[in-house]
Amino acid sequence: MLAGNVPLAIGSDHAGFDLKQRMVQWLRKSGWDVVDFGVDSAESADYPDIAEKVALSVRDGYSEKGILICGTGLGMSIAANKVRGIRAALCHDPFSARQSRLHNDANVLALGSWVMGEELAKNIVEVWLKTGFEGGRHERRVQKISLIEAREAVYQRDVRGDSLKEPEEPLEAKPHAIANAGGHPLKELHEPSKTSQGERRQEPEGEKPGRRHGPDRYGSEQHGLEQYGPEQFGAQQFEQERYGPEGAPLPDLSRIKADLASACEDLLSVADLEPGQILVVGCSTSEIKGEKIGKGSSVEIAGAVLDVLLDVTSKNGLYLAIQGCEHINRSLVVEKEVMKRYGLEEVSVYPVLHAGGALAALAMDRFKNPVTVESIRAHAGIDIGDTLIGMHLRPVAVPVRSQVKKIGHANLVMARTRPKLVGGARAQYRGVREK
Ligand code: RB5
Repeated sequence: MLAGNVPLAIGSDHAGFDLKQRMVQWLRKSGWDVVDFGVDSAESADYPDIAEKVALSVRDGYSEKGILICGTGLGMSIAANKVRGIRAALCHDPFSARQSRLHNDANVLALGSWVMGEELAKNIVEVWLKTGFEGGRHERRVQKISLIEAREAVYQRDVRGDSLKEPEEPLEAKPHAIANAGGHPLKELHEPSKTSQGERRQEPEGEKPGRRHGPDRYGSEQHGLEQYGPEQFGAQQFEQERYGPEGAPLPDLSRIKADLASACEDLLSVADLEPGQILVVGCSTSEIKGEKIGKGSSVEIAGAVLDVLLDVTSKNGLYLAIQGCEHINRSLVVEKEVMKRYGLEEVSVYPVLHAGGALAALAMDRFKNPVTVESIRAHAGIDIGDTLIGMHLRPVAVPVRSQVKKIGHANLVMARTRPKLVGGARAQYRGVREK
């Protein structure tokens, strides 16, 4: 069998132990670098414990793929699929195994030792490991799975307040001995204070977990202890925000992405940005949908916008700053690295859907190490939906015209910046081009 050059994570509970042992041996003999996450005996064990370890190893890129074995494969697949970014496929035949790679880009394979014999299991694993993802139309569908995860993350945080609550019992911080992987650190398990959604937020004194400061609606200047819980921000409203209110269907997300990508190209072609410089973006997803700013935030639209922005900035070595709404004084979400590099003033506000906006809330979730800062002097900017990004641009801001005038229904305004032209009548200037 063809061996890969990245580790494969494998794990089982007691019911899958025998098959897992034989599988590990066979895979290693075939040249695979296998990281065995246990269990190490046939003593009774709980499958979610092992599923989580293998899934985290794959999610964090320590292993390219994972294999999980329990009695039926069911518990393992259900548990592994709770980890964001994991697409675990339970397969009992080589055809499904192949399809799970071709169409679903499955990154974890779950097997049931009670359901199949060793040879069939090996055959399934072999097919699964050698089949690639077909991409094309399936790419879009897999991306939609990620969007469900992103919406759920924001829902859990902003509606249920889940991520603000400390777990009642901290996750077990017991390092798992890994014989042959040089010790996969399993960072997430060892650092219970850090979640996949970034730094755990410190609750301000006197504030109950799951409750937020913030005004009740846009336009309100109320800054008391207004609370956003399921009571105030009900399921029905959230459904509307996900799918758009009646009569205002979500715009075509692929069109939004294409228009924004082409606008970014126009901006970059004239802005003379250098790696390490900052692009600030303000965006009203409500305006993209054709509603008044702040009245119809959409995590789905924010996902499409953020996909493009992350792609453009990472390809060009730029830093991305996402401006929040007026209710957080237009503070911005940036990577911690940007804050340090540019000496920015950190603020404690945690952007959420209705006090920050969908894009800033999602950035808190999708950035690697997000922090909020009070202000920034960005080198270029994109304003989608009249969000007034000017206060975060370096002087002197110069408008950049693009063929693209709207993203969805929202106005699009872009700017580059240039150094000030100082001096008098005799002054000469270099490197300043009016475009
Ligand atoms: C263990 O008894 C069994 O429930 C487990 O191995 C698995 O089949 C769960 O889905």
